[in-house]
Amino acid sequence: MPSEETAVVERLRAAGCVFAEEEAALLLAEAGAPARLDELLRRRVAGEPLEHVLGWAEFDGLRLAVAPAVFVPRRRTELLVAEAAALVRTGDVVVDLCCGSGAVGAALLARHPDAVLHAADVDPAAVRCARRNLPGVPVHEGDLFDALPVELRGRIAVLVANVPYVPTPALRELPPEARDHEPRTALDGGDDGLAVARRVLAGAVGWLTTGGTVLFEVSQGQVAAAVAAVAEAGMTPAVAADDERGATVVSGSR
Ligand SMILES: C[S@@+](CC[C@H](N)C(=O)[O-])C[C@H]1O[C@@H](n2cnc3c(N)ncnc32)[C@H](O)[C@@H]1O
Repeated sequence: MPSEETAVVERLRAAGCVFAEEEAALLLAEAGAPARLDELLRRRVAGEPLEHVLGWAEFDGLRLAVAPAVFVPRRRTELLVAEAAALVRTGDVVVDLCCGSGAVGAALLARHPDAVLHAADVDPAAVRCARRNLPGVPVHEGDLFDALPVELRGRIAVLVANVPYVPTPALRELPPEARDHEPRTALDGGDDGLAVARRVLAGAVGWLTTGGTVLFEVSQGQVAAAVAAVAEAGMTPAVAADDERGATVVSGSR
């Protein structure tokens, strides 16, 4: 290993980075010049998520822009993409609500380039980032369905919403990378973690086509309550899980 790389690996390891070798290679490739490498390394050693430092994240085979203070797309969310993608038919209206960086929408569009995609988020930084990842796609800003054009009412075939679902009391147990560098609005799901999901379900019925489906990610412990919430909203629930990814998706069909 060249000495510059060795030095970077050692700094990362000393800062507690578990995948120091891999991270060093990525930071070196990204930096280009020594001064920039120093800056990237300083940020990473100070605890910023690697993806914020690099400015991109890999998700579902895509490389997506991720700006500081925007939720870093998680690999487990690829299950949400796979479940949603299986439902999309030619020309369907698909909405990525709570889009963050737009990762889920971008992955769906990569699989279904003929889908009519809209995305929305309440956070202006997320909306800016999603617009970079979704050129040509309308990315709306606002609170859940308030952000969407009214013409979409009753026309959404597939509604994906990777809502925040960490129960408020569990926020303090999150790793510092998430707690200190991702916005609370991206993480906090209220008392039991399902407050935003319930609001999405309550609104979904009016926005979905007959036969349309809303899908959202939950933790394993939230499945029973999430399924009950789908049924209370008047939809037919289903659950998909992938133990390898540690992912669970709950859906509701109209
Ligand atoms: C867990 S992150 C998911 C981001 C992205 N979909 C992903 O999977 O990477 C949740 C996102 O929901 C957004 N959000 C939270 N409350 C919202 C609301 N009331 N209306 C719209 N977006 C909201 C946050 O700003 C954040 O970007």
